[in-house]
Amino acid sequence: MGIKQSKHNSTTIVSNIKDKPDVLLKTEKRKKFRSWRSSGITDVNSLESWRFSHGGKRIHNLKSTKLIGPIIDEEVERLQRQHRLFKRIWQNNYSAPIEEKLKDGGARVLDVGCGPGTWTIEMAESYPKTLFTGVDFAPIFPQEKKPENAKFLQANILDGLPFLDDTFDFVHMRLLVTAFSSKEWEEKIIPELVRVTRQGGWVEFMESDIQYYNDGPITQRLTNALMTFMKAKGIFQPINSHIPDSMEANDKFVSGIKVEEKACFVGKWAGELGQLAVDDITKGWNAVRLPMSIVMGTKANEYDEIIQTFAKEVEQHKTYFKTWRFFGQKVTTNSSFAISTPSWAQSVNNE
Ligand SMILES: C[S@@+](CC[C@H](N)C(=O)[O-])C[C@H]1O[C@@H](n2cnc3c(N)ncnc32)[C@H](O)[C@@H]1O
Repeated sequence: MGIKQSKHNSTTIVSNIKDKPDVLLKTEKRKKFRSWRSSGITDVNSLESWRFSHGGKRIHNLKSTKLIGPIIDEEVERLQRQHRLFKRIWQNNYSAPIEEKLKDGGARVLDVGCGPGTWTIEMAESYPKTLFTGVDFAPIFPQEKKPENAKFLQANILDGLPFLDDTFDFVHMRLLVTAFSSKEWEEKIIPELVRVTRQGGWVEFMESDIQYYNDGPITQRLTNALMTFMKAKGIFQPINSHIPDSMEANDKFVSGIKVEEKACFVGKWAGELGQLAVDDITKGWNAVRLPMSIVMGTKANEYDEIIQTFAKEVEQHKTYFKTWRFFGQKVTTNSSFAISTPSWAQSVNNE
């Protein structure tokens, strides 16, 4: 809400950005965009990737994703907080047995769907002798404020990754389960990640389950609506069997895909971490208010009440969910790898 001086010298409360003249909106958009640039979150070439909501929020323009919420600035902050939550739960950033290689130097790591690049940057700082590349189709990663051994590219994995076969020692992907249909995971995503992984290298996924345990009736209602939405989009469930099964079905992996799980307790009843989790989840539910309200047949204010009840309910029921890591090693063969390198692919050395 803002206050403007009218030409008749009376004061008008401007309660909605829609009330502002176009020229003022444009100036504000330019100002906001300049401040995002200086915060290092976006780059000058990416403006066409965004549009602005009436509230002046930045919303992603790309249509090909199945992600259910618009990617907005709050979402970037939420992802950064979520990274800290997962780091506390897991006490590390990955599970594949590659620490020695990362420490020794000369290794290459790819983070696909890197978002704001929080994982990529933290890893690059931990292993300064290894080269890290983050890719995302939304340019929400930093262009300037990053370690020298980290670089970011805008790319859509569904169009193929712009790298040669057998390039990376470790390929990581976190929290993209809702971005692709089951068919895309099996036919495009897993084969493409394996293609760019070096023989003997590792591919690791980390995902959060959408199923809650010790869940109350409102939590169940929200989960059921989310499941309905995901099913309609052809997104697979349950995560903990479909991802490892799809990896196991891919003959480019050494058999015996590894699965690890950690529980994440939700609510103040579980201390500081539980509080972090409930804050994160309620913000997540808010980020998908529109599609969820449609699926649940609720009005916006009813949906807000449901989210508030969710936050109370997790305390009574001592609710928790599981997070998963799935990792597998690429087989070592000779020239029998018949996956062809796309003509537009580049070596990371040439970037
Ligand atoms: C939930 S966020 C996770 C971000 C990051 N991996 C993390 O753990 O903080 C999912 C990210 O995947 C990106 N994404 C979705 N579909 C993609 C695609 N087809 N190609 C590349 N990135 C994609 C989105 O832009 C978003 O930044």
